[in-house]
Amino acid sequence: MEEKTEFLYVAQEQDIPLNERLFIEINEQPIVIFNLGGKLFAIGDVCTHDNGPVGDGQVDGYEVVCPRHGARFDIRSGKATKSPAFRDVPSYQIKVEDGKIFIKI
Ligand code: FES
Repeated sequence: MEEKTEFLYVAQEQDIPLNERLFIEINEQPIVIFNLGGKLFAIGDVCTHDNGPVGDGQVDGYEVVCPRHGARFDIRSGKATKSPAFRDVPSYQIKVEDGKIFIKI
């Protein structure tokens, strides 16, 4: 069976200044969008270790560090790169059209 996915409008490009982040919720799923050096990336905002608010964490290169216990995730892919998290967070495809940001869900 084909899975239904679609791009949803979530914000204006100007809502996420360079190296800032924006928190949104889609279908009750918390998502954080990072603007890293002018490129946008969206990942789930729930740490797979113990549900910490990973999007609040410090950014180190392309990684975000969960503020609860220090797990790291690659912002580009959602991949868990450091314990105590071993499962990846979801990563969402983004497209920008006419200054509007869309996320594929
Ligand atoms: S909740 Fe994120 S490292 Fe524990």
